[in-house]
Amino acid sequence: MKAVFYETNGTSDVLRVGELTTPSPAAGEVLVRVAVSGVNPSDWKTRLGSARKMAFPRVIPHSDGAGVIEAMGEGVDRARLGQRVWIWNGQWKRPFGTAAEYIALPAIQAVPLPESTSFEAGACLGIPALTALHGLLTDGGCAGQRVLVTGGAGSVGHYAIQMARLLGAAQVLATVSGPEKAAHAMAAGADACVNYRSEDQVARIAELTGGAGVDRVVEVDLAGNGRLLHQICAHGAIVAGYGSNTQEAVFPFSPTISKGIGVRFYIVYELTAAQRATAVGALTPWLARGMLHHAVAATLPLADCARAHDEVQQGRHMGNVVLAC
Ligand SMILES: NC(=O)c1ccc[n+]([C@@H]2O[C@H](COP(=O)([O-])OP(=O)(O)OC[C@H]3O[C@@H](n4cnc5c(N)ncnc54)[C@H](OP(=O)(O)O)[C@@H]3O)[C@@H](O)[C@H]2O)c1
Repeated sequence: MKAVFYETNGTSDVLRVGELTTPSPAAGEVLVRVAVSGVNPSDWKTRLGSARKMAFPRVIPHSDGAGVIEAMGEGVDRARLGQRVWIWNGQWKRPFGTAAEYIALPAIQAVPLPESTSFEAGACLGIPALTALHGLLTDGGCAGQRVLVTGGAGSVGHYAIQMARLLGAAQVLATVSGPEKAAHAMAAGADACVNYRSEDQVARIAELTGGAGVDRVVEVDLAGNGRLLHQICAHGAIVAGYGSNTQEAVFPFSPTISKGIGVRFYIVYELTAAQRATAVGALTPWLARGMLHHAVAATLPLADCARAHDEVQQGRHMGNVVLAC
């Protein structure tokens, strides 16, 4: 099979395109003919080795993808043959991800993809959609809450805005860095956007919430925004923190504790089976009914994987970059 792989950490030059042996599904696994592979920031970070060093001698990158089940190992329901699926954790604690014509993985990691949902959209679900959804469902959910989505035009943020609306948030605010991103976040369903670079975020959020502050933040940059949280949050707010632009986040102790703010750190790869089932259970009917807009910004050929990694690293696109396999 054609695949992209690397055998050492480094810049995108370490990515090679070549022929590898097509995997065989073991017991409990399915073999998926990958149609589209999704690229996420953690893919270039893992390749670079900044957070995690090479855990395997050879890695096929990418956790997200979508395709069709072509074969299965023992113990998997034969009725799934030919089923369209989307994939989660393709390359997480496993060497071979979705940047290839085929992937073999546990059957549970290949989730049925409704007919009406494209493979491109399916390749955005494992990380961006589930990260957004868990950030809204965790700690009691967001129904009736005032929700702030920082980085509302990002891959995760754009889903978070839409999903907060679907889950019954009372108000959905977003931070963005410019007018084009504001338009993208507003089209997703935000009530208002705050330019975090040019506006006084604290004053604007106070104004937009009638002085109450927000009940939940779906936070893309804990380090960048940690000092602000006590000023924009209502008492007892939850900060669902999934990203941080730098390693050290600072939260001023007294004002943060006085407001009883809870910070829920989470990584989508490590959702429990119950958390993932809850999120997938909420997501599937929305997909089937076409209730989500999937911001696929660019579809490149598999052979352009290095370019895709660089473009995601540079934040050049508003939305997801995917590869046709
Ligand atoms: N914990 C998890 O499981 C998990 C899952 C998915 C992603 N992540 C992490 O989350 C981050 C975002 O992922 P993504 O795929 O959504 O990336 P993305 O598509 O590049 O979006 C990031 C967005 O955040 C905005 N942004 C950056 N710094 C900001 C700040 N201080 N305040 C407000 N907005 C800010 C960026 O826009 P501007 O630069 O224009 O402001 C951009 O729109 C990455 O660091 C990724 O590694 C973690």
